[in-house]
Amino acid sequence: MRHFTSIKQIGDLQKAMDLAFEVKKNPFADQHLGRNRTLLLIFFNNSLRTRLSTQKAALNLGMNVIVLDVNQGAWKLETERGVVMDGDKSEHLLEAIPVMGSYCDIIGVRSFARFESKKDDYEEVILNQFIKYSGRPVFSMEAATRHPLQTFADMITIEENKKCAKPKIVMSWAPHPKSLPQSVPNSFAEGINLTDYEFVITHPHGYELAPEFVGNARIEYNQDKALEGADFVYAKNWSAYSDPNYGKVINTDRSWTITTEKMALTNNAFFMHCLPVRRNMIVSDEVIESPQSLVIPEAANRVVSAQTVLREILRSL
Ligand code: CP
Repeated sequence: MRHFTSIKQIGDLQKAMDLAFEVKKNPFADQHLGRNRTLLLIFFNNSLRTRLSTQKAALNLGMNVIVLDVNQGAWKLETERGVVMDGDKSEHLLEAIPVMGSYCDIIGVRSFARFESKKDDYEEVILNQFIKYSGRPVFSMEAATRHPLQTFADMITIEENKKCAKPKIVMSWAPHPKSLPQSVPNSFAEGINLTDYEFVITHPHGYELAPEFVGNARIEYNQDKALEGADFVYAKNWSAYSDPNYGKVINTDRSWTITTEKMALTNNAFFMHCLPVRRNMIVSDEVIESPQSLVIPEAANRVVSAQTVLREILRSL
């Protein structure tokens, strides 16, 4: 593996899972792989879990880590080619990227959807410039359309907790006051579509995701019906994908919040969310604090996910 921007690049899923469980069992077994190697993590957006778990994963592999928050302390970057740079942006990404590449062996990039152009977001303009101009292996720490390290951690968590071979997974939209990207639900759907699990996506009308991510999932607009018999409830808010509402909040219906009553419709399902989560918007206090909530082990598995991916990239150098 050279670049990792989609869960599809993980290769054989069972092999990847086996490797992840090996990494979890013996986190320091591959310290030699990262010796004298430098990882550069570039954040265009805020982060808690991705920032810490990816650094921890790299340290477990014996790597040195440099972190750059582009919007705090770096020159303001221009991303459009051909513009006359007479504004407040001092440096172009086209110089900045190869310079960054010259300081490291592997680059991780977080660059969310900007909601200025659906085409630019879905063509992953920023992430792809890093792949094109850095000369280094690049992995996504959440880009405009996908969050594959999160998805891999989610899938590891499901594998660890499932009670039958083909659990029913329900990904449910839930309300949120702000416009959030579709990257996490897109990516989760992409990952679950690699399995033979029963997969249902439920959301209000107008929140349909891009068909290439929905894949074989069944869409159910009635949340209560979708939740019936679920083994895992994966809650997430996302903004509208379809035109003319791309990137907009078109519904904040609180009847979609995951509550104890909603969970009672399931097969004693586990509750999952990638975090950060808005309590009593996305999920009630009672559900997130219940024994069925997997949010903390799910976040902890972000180290396993990042370390498994970094290990494979290091082996390819
Ligand atoms: N789930 C996740 O990516 O968390 P952060 O945004 O805090 O990194």
